[in-house]
Amino acid sequence: MSDRLQKLNGIDFAVADLSLAAFGRHQMRLAEHEMPGLMSIREEFKAAQPLRGARIAGSLHMTIQTAVLIETLVALGAQVRWVSCNIFSTQDEAAAAIVVGPEGTVEAPSGTPVFAWKGETLEEYWWCTEQLFDFGDGLGPNMILDDGGDATLLVHKGVEFEKAGAVPATTAEDNHEYTIILDTLRRSLASDGQRFTKIAAEIRGVTEETTTGVARLYKFAKTGDLLFPAINVNDSVTKSKFDNKYGIRHSLVDGLNRATDVMLGGKLAVVCGYGDVGKGSAETLRGQGARVVVTEVDPICALQAAMDGMQVARIEDVVSEADIFITTTGGTEIITVEHMAAMKHNAIVGNVGHFDDEIDMAGLAKVPGIEKVEVKPQVHEWRFPDGHAVIVLSEGRLMNLGNATGHPSFVMSNSFTNQVIAQIELWTKPGEYDNQVYVLPKHLDEKVARLHLDALGVRLTELTKKQAEYLGVPVEGPYKPDHYRY
Ligand code: NAI
Repeated sequence: MSDRLQKLNGIDFAVADLSLAAFGRHQMRLAEHEMPGLMSIREEFKAAQPLRGARIAGSLHMTIQTAVLIETLVALGAQVRWVSCNIFSTQDEAAAAIVVGPEGTVEAPSGTPVFAWKGETLEEYWWCTEQLFDFGDGLGPNMILDDGGDATLLVHKGVEFEKAGAVPATTAEDNHEYTIILDTLRRSLASDGQRFTKIAAEIRGVTEETTTGVARLYKFAKTGDLLFPAINVNDSVTKSKFDNKYGIRHSLVDGLNRATDVMLGGKLAVVCGYGDVGKGSAETLRGQGARVVVTEVDPICALQAAMDGMQVARIEDVVSEADIFITTTGGTEIITVEHMAAMKHNAIVGNVGHFDDEIDMAGLAKVPGIEKVEVKPQVHEWRFPDGHAVIVLSEGRLMNLGNATGHPSFVMSNSFTNQVIAQIELWTKPGEYDNQVYVLPKHLDEKVARLHLDALGVRLTELTKKQAEYLGVPVEGPYKPDHYRY
């Protein structure tokens, strides 16, 4: 249990400092103005209260933008508990503002329970995640809103071990984080051998935010192990082609600047992966005047990078010349200890893929004679015995959230409007979805985009009836077949 756990005015929570709430509320007010999609969904559905009865367990970076998402879910009738999906991504003022709520005070909060602060340990992280599953009076959640799939994973592993009647013993192969998950579930099993089985039976569905979490869901679905329906929010066009690309175009450079303030122009930057996040990363670094080299395994993405004017190489080809390394693959062991040993003095290494496996941080810590020096939180110099150092951001975790505050409100409004629509869909249509992974239909994707046009002064051309017939699409859309790739 964390010593941050408090209960005030009937609300349990664990945040860094409740007195930051006013600062958080000011930022939320500005964010609301920049989140037209989310605010118009609030307006559209506030009378109908489509989420009444929903108890949503939310695990997604506890930022200002997420705070606006949480209050939208609440405005639509949901009861919510929230944690961050990353140990460094919480904006403490956002967490405080959500606990205090729009009407509450620091002394008598009346908002939503949040269990998140910037700089959690992994033990604290999983303790927080566990808090999602207790809505009081013996009730668990009946919906999950996930980013990266940790809340979903805990339920699935919990059910698996409850079926087996035991949590497997920890082995030397298990990484530190997995041993913590096993310990968490061991404790849970000892207190109630059916806890997660009962929780899973109540859950109508999960809506998943990101590429990595979606990959986990498809894995469960493929083996028939998915315990409830899922909506893949990431692959709404208005999510992955916007947040992943344009969002990172803003927040990657923001993170680099806040962390190091190093001049990017003229530097040699390596971007590993040229998917949606990689494309935005390469573009923004080039926009700053950096020379960008891309690494890829997929010939299509490699060709795209080349046609976009990037040099495409292997990391080994440039490892000793580059100044900045950014991983965006969602994969594992992309930057190894051998790579870091061969880098230039003070090369900067950062990851914007979901988990920290992309950079071999565990291996780095084991290098004989290596010294870790904290420049400031989330910025560390790792000094090799030969005298050269590499600067690692956010301990290898999402540096655009650890060293900055993630993507800006406007792009997150697109992602989160999809999230709210997906929550309404699964909550209000029980029985209409199997235990499979779905994407939202195209007319809703187009609706999300439409909700963001006015704010940018966009004047959309309208198809004439004749043009629509010629193209074989309805005048009011959808305008593209499902196989269209944008
Ligand atoms: P994606 O699948 O579009 O792109 C990943 C790319 O990495 C693919 O093109 C793949 O071929 C390439 N790749 C895989 N292994 C590689 C290797 N060994 N070397 C070089 N390239 C390799 O996925 P997307 O949407 O770009 O997401 C990437 C990661 O970023 C995911 O973990 C996702 O969850 C995360 N993400 C992070 C955000 C942030 O704010 N930092 C926002 C959105 C997504």
